[in-house]
Amino acid sequence: MRVIITGAASGIGRSVAESLAAESSEHKLLLTDRDADGLAVVANAIGSSATTCVADLSSAECGDQIVAAALKHMDGIDGVVSNAGIIAGAPLVEQTAELFDKIYAINTRATWLLAKAAHPHLAKSRGAIVATASMSATQPTPGLGFYSSSKAALLMLMKQLSLEWGGDGIRCNTVSPGPTYTPMTQAGYDDADRRAQRESMIPLGKLGMAEDVANTILFLLSPKAGHVTGIDILVDGGMSNNLMPATGGGTGQKASK
Ligand SMILES: NC(=O)c1ccc[n+]([C@@H]2O[C@H](COP(=O)([O-])OP(=O)(O)OC[C@H]3O[C@@H](n4cnc5c(N)ncnc54)[C@H](O)[C@@H]3O)[C@@H](O)[C@H]2O)c1
Repeated sequence: MRVIITGAASGIGRSVAESLAAESSEHKLLLTDRDADGLAVVANAIGSSATTCVADLSSAECGDQIVAAALKHMDGIDGVVSNAGIIAGAPLVEQTAELFDKIYAINTRATWLLAKAAHPHLAKSRGAIVATASMSATQPTPGLGFYSSSKAALLMLMKQLSLEWGGDGIRCNTVSPGPTYTPMTQAGYDDADRRAQRESMIPLGKLGMAEDVANTILFLLSPKAGHVTGIDILVDGGMSNNLMPATGGGTGQKASK
């Protein structure tokens, strides 16, 4: 497979790159990130099947830039993993228009720009796009109003693409991680109390790891998911189904006979 991966310098994107490289030396990878040093570390560890492109996903040119770099390294595109994202926390009443534009540009618009630039190549290969959304896309999240709403927009963007591009044979899906231990969240989860509190809400009893999400992305990219499009797979250890236990269950009334 010939695959573009954004956010490949760290966390989930890095794990996708390493997992694909471990799966087959035949895969060709274009790794992209704004972090040049981090990208070089990942690419050097993988070897010549990977090349890099330093790009800022907040730029309106990022899609064309990344696809052009990919086509210098590989003779087509079978997969796009649009994974990079940023998080910024504060109540909505305190946020600014500048931050709104920045978060939506990276978390939502960049996927469309990259998908649009890759479209003719994906149509030729009958390829797949997988975007990393979030459990926050469907669960309003205290202090993360721009993040959660930008990820909700990403979910619908991908469903829309699945409808528009199904006729081209292009599959478009998302994964939605729950709490996952990566450099993005590490500082918070290295606090033992916070980690224990979060893990107590996850039926499987532990935070997700980058590999848990990467494995699901690899499945959605692969021919094994050849008839799967327009869906979102939660990778949250069951957390999103764990709301009602907080009520104590039942109605508080005795069952009527
Ligand atoms: N870690 C979690 O708990 C969690 C939960 C839900 C969703 N996610 C999502 O998973 C994805 C990957 O997150 P992660 O946890 O691996 O985080 P991470 O911070 O480890 O990796 C994100 C990567 O994206 C890159 N990036 C950020 N802004 C960029 C820009 N403007 N241009 C180019 N590259 C940029 C960063 O340099 C970094 O390498 C994100 O979309 C995130 O929102 C993470």
